[in-house]
Amino acid sequence: MPSVLLRRAVTGAVAALTALALATPAAATGGSTIGSPGLGDPYFPLAGNGGYDVRHYSLDLDYVRAGNHLDATAVITARATQHLSRFNLDLRGFTISSLRVDGAPARFTRDGQELVITPKRALRAGRTFTVRVDYAGQPTEVIDPDGSSEGWVTTEDGAFVVNEPQGSPGWYPANDNPRDKATYDFAVTVPTGITAIGNGKLVSKRDHKGKTTWRWREDSPMAPYLATVTNGVFELRVSRVGRIPLYHAVDPAEVPKGAFERLGAEAEVITFFSKLYGPYPFSSGGGVVDHAPEVGYALESQTKSQYDETPGAGTVVHEIAHQWFGNSVTLTVWQDIWLNEGFAAFSEWIYDEKHGGPTAQQSFDELYARAPTHSLWQRPPANLGGPEVMFSAPAYDRGAMTLQALRVKIGDKRFFGLLRDWYAHNRDGNVTTADFVRLAERRSGQQLDAFFQTWLYTPGKPTTW
Ligand code: ARG
Ligand code: ZN
Repeated sequence: MPSVLLRRAVTGAVAALTALALATPAAATGGSTIGSPGLGDPYFPLAGNGGYDVRHYSLDLDYVRAGNHLDATAVITARATQHLSRFNLDLRGFTISSLRVDGAPARFTRDGQELVITPKRALRAGRTFTVRVDYAGQPTEVIDPDGSSEGWVTTEDGAFVVNEPQGSPGWYPANDNPRDKATYDFAVTVPTGITAIGNGKLVSKRDHKGKTTWRWREDSPMAPYLATVTNGVFELRVSRVGRIPLYHAVDPAEVPKGAFERLGAEAEVITFFSKLYGPYPFSSGGGVVDHAPEVGYALESQTKSQYDETPGAGTVVHEIAHQWFGNSVTLTVWQDIWLNEGFAAFSEWIYDEKHGGPTAQQSFDELYARAPTHSLWQRPPANLGGPEVMFSAPAYDRGAMTLQALRVKIGDKRFFGLLRDWYAHNRDGNVTTADFVRLAERRSGQQLDAFFQTWLYTPGKPTTW
């Protein structure tokens, strides 16, 4: 008898050793088969995950504002970019009732916003797979290092849904990094009488038993921070600019404040930037004016800019310009935020210049008159210092000044040719400041190191350039 026991013990030990040996390559190499939990963004190191590339999100969301309850299914189609024994998604809160990879139940654990998934069988590099997550609970607001809130921001009658830079995991499992763009389908079910507005085109709207399902589809690649499903009581109007449908949704509280008239200006702004920069990037457009005064900012969510109140005319121009710069041509790391905000702010200046307002040079001069001690000069646009100041004036104003100074330095013809090329070469893509510097040098035939060093990287008020 003892010998039998001994033999069993030995067999058990061998089995354990074999399991260890199988597990060792992943553990020992520290990541050749384990997708990394982040993509190393200096401002948001855990945002996004390594090892795969999302192709498509299909989000089926049933939301009831009373109790702030979301019942949802996300189906994510992705391609493994390495052999994957384990990988992560980003998701905050919620209870997950089921998680399947290619239809088979998968093990998962939670660690902060990291949802760690171990598929039954490892995924080969190059292989396309699906992850289905059934989850429910209260969607969350995410508070940024600068104190602003985003994510699922509840309003009286629904939610204002904006994610820049890290709100997406508050309402759907995402590879939350701007470099992983994907297409999106949304099916949002809300009580009948509530309107839910996703990105892209309205596919259908169906009533069933006191509820309405709104289906939207965005067919251009989109960074996770640009997804939206803002919902509440809205008046929805559809118009067109050329072949592009424009969806304008306004909270009834904002209608008397002229919100539809403000949004109505989008058609002309789209036409203007299409001529200046190249064709409008997407197959639909529009905007949403909600009543969410506690948010305090607007966001250029893809094809549907989000306004927390009736915007000023300049804000509409700014958000439309982002459809080119920010949404189609997207930053790769958040510290390059000036590539979004500086370009959108400059676009406001050039729009004014061509519409009888101050010239871009006058806008530049007004800012340049600020004393050397002014906060505008303390942080250079491409080296702001941290996420707590990523939306501060240098990203916007000094970013726009950099472009105007470049315009003067290389001349209008080359400068606007450069902006057109920047868009044409990087449409639906991701870029860095270094990419822009390289293209500017190529387009102008000038050595621009010192110029960009001064404007983008050196603290203090530029004096010569
Ligand atoms: N990109 C927005 C704009 O058009 C600003 C977003 C600010 N986001 C935030 N969490 N504070 O300028
Ligand atoms: Zn902006």
